[in-house]
Amino acid sequence: MNSFDCEKSFLVDFNLETGFSEKAETTKRRLSQMSEMYCDSEAVKKLLETGDPIVYAFHEMGFPERKGDLAFGTTILYPGTVGDEYYMTKGHFHNQLDTAEVYYTLSGEGYMVMENPEGDTIEMPLKKGEAVYVPKRYAHRTVNTGKRPLVLFFTFAADAGHDYGAIETKGFRKIIVERDGKPVIIDNPKWK
Ligand SMILES: [Fe+2]
Repeated sequence: MNSFDCEKSFLVDFNLETGFSEKAETTKRRLSQMSEMYCDSEAVKKLLETGDPIVYAFHEMGFPERKGDLAFGTTILYPGTVGDEYYMTKGHFHNQLDTAEVYYTLSGEGYMVMENPEGDTIEMPLKKGEAVYVPKRYAHRTVNTGKRPLVLFFTFAADAGHDYGAIETKGFRKIIVERDGKPVIIDNPKWK
């Protein structure tokens, strides 16, 4: 837990290229922690034989999950593919399904992949200098389709909570793969 008092105003700096802030708590996600999420199990196995790459990291303010406050931070998603599937975050619903989130792209490019429990899907491009609104009730995942790190600033209701389980079990309906050097959105063959 950091020393900020979110009853008061304060300033935090984030690096635009790396997303890093000395004042935020850093969490790293490696391929082995999300190996089941990629379609190509053989490609996962092969990559893990030679190491365990960091797929993404996030830097966030460790605020209490309290109604009325805003949680915020940055995500840095590295470039790469597993088979032909681009590096991505695990993705989650909010425990409080009726809470939205805003992501602003600081550098890099990619997609925000979203879906609601009814099966409606949205894929929004992420471009430097643009903000994307993730509506309430939509699970969300970021995908890096570029050649450099994708860095995003995010903010959401501090008491929203994260539900990773549903996505870990079912996956997203849509995935993004590289075809002839370009990103293509396809149905997820592993979706249950
Ligand atoms: Fe979220």
